[in-house]
Amino acid sequence: MNKSVTLNPFFLYEQSVQTTADVDYLLEMAITVMGRVPLSLREDFCGTHLFAREYVKRDPRFKAIGLDLDPLSIKYGTSQAKKDLTPEERKRLKIYKKNVISVTKPKSDWIVACNFSFYIFHERDTLVEYFKKAHQSLTKDGIFMLELGGGSGFLERLTDRRVFKVSQTQKVTYLWHQLDFNPVKRQGHYAISFKVNDVLKYKHAFKYDWRVWTIPEVRDVLKDAGFSRSVVLVEKAAKGRSSEGYEISEEGDHDHSWISYVVGIR
Ligand SMILES: C[S@@+](CC[C@H](N)C(=O)[O-])C[C@H]1O[C@@H](n2cnc3c(N)ncnc32)[C@H](O)[C@@H]1O
Repeated sequence: MNKSVTLNPFFLYEQSVQTTADVDYLLEMAITVMGRVPLSLREDFCGTHLFAREYVKRDPRFKAIGLDLDPLSIKYGTSQAKKDLTPEERKRLKIYKKNVISVTKPKSDWIVACNFSFYIFHERDTLVEYFKKAHQSLTKDGIFMLELGGGSGFLERLTDRRVFKVSQTQKVTYLWHQLDFNPVKRQGHYAISFKVNDVLKYKHAFKYDWRVWTIPEVRDVLKDAGFSRSVVLVEKAAKGRSSEGYEISEEGDHDHSWISYVVGIR
């Protein structure tokens, strides 16, 4: 472990929220749903595009594009790609400062939207429009994976914390704030802060104003947007098994808080 590392909110977000293992289990699920290996990815709301960066490393046939509106996130991801990826891997990765409500070409085998990012859309009409554009951007047997979080534990006012070391001298506390929730609109405000060595260094570094969509709502919208069917991936651990990962199921446990993926099949 290094003596100390340069800290910024994007680095801290990747360290605390994301894991490259996501690529493996989602790829495995994509293969299960599609019956083949998806060769081209579109990562929506890609931010620092950790998922796309990792995907192109997995196979020399894999190509990825990423869409995000924030130039600072994209810039940080691009600087990481220069360190982490070979020039050949970088050629297979293209990031665009672009709204996800866009049709992209060439078509992608799968589109992934992680960490509840589509909750930014509050109106059903907007969600239909987004899903339609995603549908038009997929290859014939393409799939659209959307990560959802829910359960009463996702709606209550709280601050969760996790502590981890990023270097010999730097201890980081990740703080997840659930600030409020309005059941009339299913609208919640959330934020992420970071302490470094117990000092609050980045208060509300990331803030979210979300409509917490339910699984049936999202499946209905996928149908209206033209997807032929959808499946739901529920956590295996949440069903009392020790192994981690997801499985296709029409039954989820009524957990205090849960994470699932809804997968639209073109
Ligand atoms: C919760 S972060 C997701 C970061 C990361 N990809 C992840 O999965 O953890 C949401 C990202 O969505 C981006 N964003 C918000 N609205 C967008 C839109 N309409 N089109 C593209 N990107 C958008 C923000 O700039 C931000 O980087």
